[in-house]
Amino acid sequence: MDYFNRRGDSLYAEACSVTSLANTYGTPLYVYSRATIERHWHAFDNAAGDHPHMVCYAVKANSNLAVLNTMARLGSGFDIVSQGELARVIQAGGDPSKVVFSGVGKTSKEIAYALGKGIYCFNVESAAELSRINDVAIAEGKIANISLRVNPDVDAGTHPYISTGLKENKFGISIDEAISLYQKATAMPGLAVKGIDCHIGSQLTEMAPFLDALDRVLALIDRLAELDIQLSHLDVGGGLGVCYDDEQPPHPNDYAKALAEKLEGYDLTLIYEPGRAIMANAGILVTEVEFLKTNEDRHFAIVDAAMNDLIRPSLYQAYQNIIEVETAPRDQVSEQTYDIVGPICETGDFLGKDRKLSITSGDLLAVRSAGAYGFTMSSNYNSRPRAAEVMVDGEQSHLIRARETIESLWQGEQLLPAMNKK
Ligand code: LLP
Repeated sequence: MDYFNRRGDSLYAEACSVTSLANTYGTPLYVYSRATIERHWHAFDNAAGDHPHMVCYAVKANSNLAVLNTMARLGSGFDIVSQGELARVIQAGGDPSKVVFSGVGKTSKEIAYALGKGIYCFNVESAAELSRINDVAIAEGKIANISLRVNPDVDAGTHPYISTGLKENKFGISIDEAISLYQKATAMPGLAVKGIDCHIGSQLTEMAPFLDALDRVLALIDRLAELDIQLSHLDVGGGLGVCYDDEQPPHPNDYAKALAEKLEGYDLTLIYEPGRAIMANAGILVTEVEFLKTNEDRHFAIVDAAMNDLIRPSLYQAYQNIIEVETAPRDQVSEQTYDIVGPICETGDFLGKDRKLSITSGDLLAVRSAGAYGFTMSSNYNSRPRAAEVMVDGEQSHLIRARETIESLWQGEQLLPAMNKK
């Protein structure tokens, strides 16, 4: 459930009219709802109940400082994949001792930085990375907590680009290799073996792949226990899907309950790394219709947001619901089926296809479920300044990222020196 609702003909974000927000801050505009973020975070935290656990929000889904700060104030942990994400967490008031560091390509510099900040654990994805972390920890005079990310070889049943738990994917360590690596890790002086980690993909809408993966991980935990390797935590990754259209993903309560049943008898702290489930439906992208255009057999609504603002439809053919911000009927405006496209010079630049809308030039549209993997995946393609971001809190709205200026587009760039005349 989220706090984007209609009051009469107008869309509201909590108690703020979306039309007023667009008038104040301009478009394209990302609007987030603080109450929704908090509600979704608590849904995970409450679902875990008394079982020892940490909710480590996956920063990649939305890394705006105000979003991270909202979560930090709730006591959240964080799942990061780069030095930049860790620096953001710290800048936003997050506690590094509740941070897990995922990702297949951590550099020595990033590892040293994270050790210096005292993060909780590195999720290790290869033998080479394990020895690199050991080497850096020794050089820094520190002990690095580690868990191995295992690849259970299960099909998450999601888009191939966001599926990570199959053996042909670049992620994780096979269950067989994991045993010998755990043995090696326990003998490495710079490491403390803490846990095991498994993330099989994103936007999962069924429980079965999670449970299949868990069965395989628990079997591995049992084999490790026989070898006297005791783990203190199990990181189940992120991946719980959301409703973009008509999907019915499991509720965090049902998910946590199913995990708890399997975990009976194990003394393991649970770590969750949700990203999308917290943020997707806590945000919308507001855009204005510039032109309506009709070709031989298609109607286009050309809007001021584009694939550089929200790439999910172009990249994954992802469906995102698109609705009118104001629905009051008007003369001369009738329903039509539109492709909602941006101004970028690519046929792949669309936000939605075949959408029935009653719109005219100057109207506002809201792209729903845009709070996760929206702004964080945006770019300056076609030299378009990135959108502004606003956080709504009841009747108040706060600008949490200013719209980029034209001048900022070439920040850091240099002209060549003056040419030597021959
Ligand atoms: N943990 C790890 C190790 C991950 O790789 C991810 C996401 C998460 C947690 C969070 O997963 P979530 O709860 O958000 O499903 N850009 C794509 C999604 C990529 C997800 C990458 N990893 C999209 O827009 O659908």
